[in-house]
Amino acid sequence: MIPDHVVEEVRARADIVGIIGDFVQLKKAGKDFRGLSPFKKEKTPSFYVIPAKAFFHDFSSGESGDVFSFLMKHQGMGFTDAVKYVGARSGVEVKEVRRGRKGDDPWRPYYEATAHANSFFQERLWEWEGGKSAREYLERRGIWRETGERFGLGFAPDEWGALRDAAAARGIGEAILLELGLLKKSEKREQLYDAFRNRVIFPIESVSGRVLAFGGRLLGPEGKGAPKYLNSPESPIFHKGEILYGLSWAGNHIRRQGAALLVEGFMDALSLAAVDVAHAVAPLGTALTEGHARLLARYTKQVRILFDNDAAGMRATFRAADTLLAQGLHASVVTLPEGEDPDSVARAGGAEAVLGFVRQAVDVLDRKIAILEEHDYFSSIEKTRAALDRLLPTLRAVRDPRLRDIYLTRVAERTGVRADTLAAELKGQTGPGRARRGTRPPPRRRPAPRFQGLGSDWQLVHFVLKRREWIERAGERVGPSDLEDGALRAIFEWLIDNPELAAPPVGAMPEAVQRFEELNRDREVPPDEVFEDVARGIDVRTIDRRLEALDGQIRGAAEEAEKSRLIKDKEDLNKEKRALGPDWRRSTHRAAKSSQRKGEGSR
Ligand code: UTP
Ligand code: MN
Repeated sequence: MIPDHVVEEVRARADIVGIIGDFVQLKKAGKDFRGLSPFKKEKTPSFYVIPAKAFFHDFSSGESGDVFSFLMKHQGMGFTDAVKYVGARSGVEVKEVRRGRKGDDPWRPYYEATAHANSFFQERLWEWEGGKSAREYLERRGIWRETGERFGLGFAPDEWGALRDAAAARGIGEAILLELGLLKKSEKREQLYDAFRNRVIFPIESVSGRVLAFGGRLLGPEGKGAPKYLNSPESPIFHKGEILYGLSWAGNHIRRQGAALLVEGFMDALSLAAVDVAHAVAPLGTALTEGHARLLARYTKQVRILFDNDAAGMRATFRAADTLLAQGLHASVVTLPEGEDPDSVARAGGAEAVLGFVRQAVDVLDRKIAILEEHDYFSSIEKTRAALDRLLPTLRAVRDPRLRDIYLTRVAERTGVRADTLAAELKGQTGPGRARRGTRPPPRRRPAPRFQGLGSDWQLVHFVLKRREWIERAGERVGPSDLEDGALRAIFEWLIDNPELAAPPVGAMPEAVQRFEELNRDREVPPDEVFEDVARGIDVRTIDRRLEALDGQIRGAAEEAEKSRLIKDKEDLNKEKRALGPDWRRSTHRAAKSSQRKGEGSR
C-alpha cells in the first residue's frame, strides 16, 4: 500500500488538467477546462475539469471525481497504479510499503514528533503565561490570534529543555528529535538541548498540510551568535530545496489567481495571507532552487517576484527569475518602494496596497533593460556590450519557446544586435563541444609562476575569485559571454550575481562545482596588473572569433549591400582590436611561450 500522506501529496501536486488533457481534448473555459465527454458520446462538450478544486465533472454521464478516479474509470487502472502514474508525472516518488501491523508508514514517527512539537509550541504561545512577550511581539507586527492560529504559529520558550522534557513525557524518542534538528547535542552539555529558544515558531508544512519542519524568528533584536531566523536542518522528511513556505494554503489560490507571488521570507508570506492575499510563497532562507521552480510549475506558469527593493534583493530577484525561466515559467518583477518589503506594505496599506504594486509587475527582461537604461548603459557601443552581457544569462535561461522569441526581439531592438546573431551566439555557447573545450586548470605540482600561460578564462576567474573587490569592475570590463569555458563562465556569472558567494549555488553544473573547488584550493593571490593583461587577452580573442565569423558571413553573403555592410563591420572590429594597443601581444605571447615550456597544448 501507499502511505496516505504520499497519496495526499500526489493529489495536491498533480496537474489535473495536464493529466486528463492527455486523454481528453480540453479547452479553457474561464477558470476551468471543457471537453467532450470521454464516457458518453456527445456533440456539445459537457465534461469539465476544475483545477481550483482538483476535480472533474462529466455532466453527460454523471461521473465525477479526482485525478485518480479519472484514471481508474477511464483507463481501468487500479488505485495504486493510478497514484504511481500521477506521482511519476508530478515529481513525487511513490513507494509502496508493506501492508501490515504498525510500521505501515516508515515516516510516521517523524510526523508524530513534528506534530507533537507543533502543538507544544502553540500551547506555549497562546495558553502559557510566559508566552506573553511573543503574543505582544506578534500583535506589534499586526498578527492577531485569529491569523496566528490559522497558520499554526507557536512560541519556543527561552529555556534549554522545555521541548525536550515535554516530548520525553509523551514518550517521543530523543533520537528522532535529534534527527529532526529540534534537539541538539554539544560537547559541553550532558543532555540534549532545545534548538529553538525564545523564538516565534512558524510550522513548515508539506503541500498536504503535514508539519515537516519549523522556522523560528528570534524575539526582538538579533543577538550575538543567534541568527534572526533559524530553520530546521535537512531531515528524512524535510528537504528545503523542495519545499516552499505557504504552499500548503496558497496552492489553490495560486491556481485560481493564475499566478504565484514569490516573497523572501516567512513574515512576508504570513502578512500577505493575513490581509487575504493568499497566493504568496517563500523559499526557506535559501535561493530559489530548480526544485522550487518545478514545484511552482505544477500550479501556475506565472510567478511575480516581490523581494526587498535593495541591491541584495535585486540580485536575488534576477537569480530567482533565471531559475524560473529555466523551468519554462514566466517571471515578472514587482517593485516596492525603497526600504519596504511585502510585510510592511501589507501592514500599512492592506491588500489594496499590495495588489496595486502587483498589478504593475514588469516582465523580468524588461525590468533588467529598464535598470540598465537607468544606469545609462546604452549610451555607447562599449557600454551596450556590457549591457548585453548582463542580459545574456536571462536569454540563456528562458525555455518557453515563444517567450524566447519575444526576448530575443526585445534585446535585439535595444542593443542593435540582430536577433539571429544573438540566437546563434546563445546556441554556440551552450553546445557541449564548446563548453568542454577550453582551458585546463594548472597542474598542481608547479608552485612558482601561477599567472602565466594558464589560459585567459582560468586566469580571469581565478583573479576575481581571489580579489572579490574587483568583481564589479571585471563584470563591466569582460562579459561572461566572452569566456569560452562553460564551467568557468558559470563561476564568473555566480560571482557577478553574488560577489560574496562562498559555495556554488544549489543545482550548479558539476563541472563548475569541481572547477570552483579547484580554484578555491589555490592559495595564490594575484597582483593588480594581472587583470588588465588577462582582460585584454580575452578581448582580443573575442574579436578574433567575431572576425572569423564575419569572414564566413562575407563569403556566404548573397547580396552586395549585405556584403559591404559586413566588410564595414570587419573594418570596425579591426580598428577596435588595434585600439587595444600592442600590450596584448606581449601577454598572449608570454602565455603561449610559458605553456610551451610546460608542454601543454596551446590553442
Ligand atoms: P529578512 O531578514 O528579509 O527578514 O529575511 P524579514 O522577512 O524582513 O523578517 P522580519 O521582518 O525582520 O521578521 C528573509 C528570510 O531570509 C531567511 C528567512 O527565511 C527569512 O524569512 N533568513 C533571514 C534566515 O534564514 N536567517 C536569518 O538570520 C535571516
Ligand atoms: Mn521585514
